[in-house]
Amino acid sequence: MCGIVGYVGEKQALQVVVEGLRRLEYRGYDSAGVAVVADGVLDTRKKAGKLVNLETLLGADPLPQSTIGIGHTRWATHGGPTDANAHPHVSEDGKVAVIHNGIIENFAELRAELSAAGVTLSSETDTEVVAHLLAAVLPTVRMDLAEAMRTVCRRLSGAFTLVAVHSDVPDVVVGARRNSPLVVGRGQGENFLASDVAAFIAHTRSAIELGQDQVVELRRDSVVVTDFEGAPADVTEYEVTWDASAAEKGGYETFMAKEIAEQPKAVSDTLLGRIGPTGRLQLDEMRLSENDLREIDKVVVIACGTAYHAGLVAKYALEHWTRVPCEVELASEFRYRDPVVGPRTLILAISQSGETMDTIMALRYAREQGSKVLAICNTQGSTIPRESDAVLYTHAGPEVAVASTKAFLTQLVACYLVALYVAQVRGNKFGDEIAAVVRELKDMPQKVDLVLDTTEEMKALAEELKDAPSVLFIGRHVGFPVALEGALKLKELAYMHAEGFAAGELKHGPIALLEEGVPVICIVPSPAGRSVLHEKIVSNIQEVRARGARTIVIAEEGDESVVPYADHLVRIPACPTLLQPLVSTVPLQVFAAAMAAAKGHDVDQPRNLAKSVTVE
Ligand code: F6R
Repeated sequence: MCGIVGYVGEKQALQVVVEGLRRLEYRGYDSAGVAVVADGVLDTRKKAGKLVNLETLLGADPLPQSTIGIGHTRWATHGGPTDANAHPHVSEDGKVAVIHNGIIENFAELRAELSAAGVTLSSETDTEVVAHLLAAVLPTVRMDLAEAMRTVCRRLSGAFTLVAVHSDVPDVVVGARRNSPLVVGRGQGENFLASDVAAFIAHTRSAIELGQDQVVELRRDSVVVTDFEGAPADVTEYEVTWDASAAEKGGYETFMAKEIAEQPKAVSDTLLGRIGPTGRLQLDEMRLSENDLREIDKVVVIACGTAYHAGLVAKYALEHWTRVPCEVELASEFRYRDPVVGPRTLILAISQSGETMDTIMALRYAREQGSKVLAICNTQGSTIPRESDAVLYTHAGPEVAVASTKAFLTQLVACYLVALYVAQVRGNKFGDEIAAVVRELKDMPQKVDLVLDTTEEMKALAEELKDAPSVLFIGRHVGFPVALEGALKLKELAYMHAEGFAAGELKHGPIALLEEGVPVICIVPSPAGRSVLHEKIVSNIQEVRARGARTIVIAEEGDESVVPYADHLVRIPACPTLLQPLVSTVPLQVFAAAMAAAKGHDVDQPRNLAKSVTVE
């Protein structure tokens, strides 16, 4: 939530910063703003709405040339999405500009203190207090901006990434980090600060992770990191493994279309190097000992949104393959209900961004109870893997569209790998049984590729159904989380009523929603192996059709039993039921994106949302 960019170097800062903001716009698009320092004068421009509004303003009212600048793209928390609430916020003397991601929880008290001291606040944000506090502290610390930032940070509570510039120190950008993301990009004669490496990847791949409660002082040729007390801090440097083109649309109309198309590769990359020649899993990279895995008596998955749906699938796989009980909980609920976890509980924290605050708070709570946390994450160096005992990275590459697609499929793969690995270590399954599932898993990238062939058909279906007041999704077993995921995609992208149900639950209430023509998307498991499950859902399809629903049935190639009950039949490649979400989700992603496009919505940046939810 909120994208932050800072630059100091030799290039035109405004260009670098605006380009960086374009790559971070997925983090929030309620407003955008920039500040530069030129000839000892601070100048800002900011505008409500998407980045393009700011660019129009900059065209009409240009900023002076400068080699130092900061920029912000906002997801509003405190104060509506107005020009006045847009960042940067500037001190009364016009010399300090600050941008912020997170929530300063004690801002009301600080605002009151500033007002009592005669300061006039010109926005409704929590951020503005920082600009005024910095201005007040600077003269007491010999105009040392980093020291002023440390002093102010010690007074703040909550989550914050802050970046500031000051017109009297025109060669310094200062950043601070507590709980929200901030990375340094190290260049030649230039340095960058950003919420995400995507902002500077076109300039450098050399990055530094900042830790909790650290302040960084950036000049053209130096990066100095300390803790909030001023003591030098240890930092981890790393090379970003993907290049700028990975975060470009590459000829696709939307990032989401590109990311859906990238799924076969993302699945295959996530399997890569993790399966030995005999089919044994090699997950030593996780940093969790075999002994730890033998000791656990329960797994609890914590995650939000789409990642939570991946966790629901993990439960079916884990319990089936390992016989270890597994609970799945929304991270935002887990933390505040006094859950029963302890040293023998393995927590699986699933997150694409690694910065979701609800998940971070839940994992911190679990660690306090002595549980071990294994993160499944797509973002190297982000908070969730840093604070976990172990991590298994998904290799989806950067996901830019706000609605998650390829990250979801790779989360599923990582969950399958973890479940099979636990079964291997604990001896719940014979080696050849695990090797057989692993062989099936290795076939999945090709099957995901095949299911992309349904794209045109799903687009046509969306066009036909675009005026439907609501769409329902039903599934059983792992088809149930797929139904939830299909409904979530449709809600967030097409802004329409959509709900996913366990098909068996329909008759306990939701069936009353059915009336003539309501589209019901039915996810049908493989008829092979679990024929009872298959029979049951075929009966559920008949029940909804008997009540006038229009059935859109997603079923395996060759499954003829569903043909008489399908108003529209979408074929997916045959695969074992547990692995089926890897293919059955794909047409639903395409359907939701097409529905959004048919309704004229922005597919990559749906309203009110942000990709990385860094507030609770
Ligand atoms: C939906 C979506 C969100 C995220 C959720 C968790 O398409 O993207 O529901 O899945 O906000 O985000 P991460 O995985 O970054 O923790």
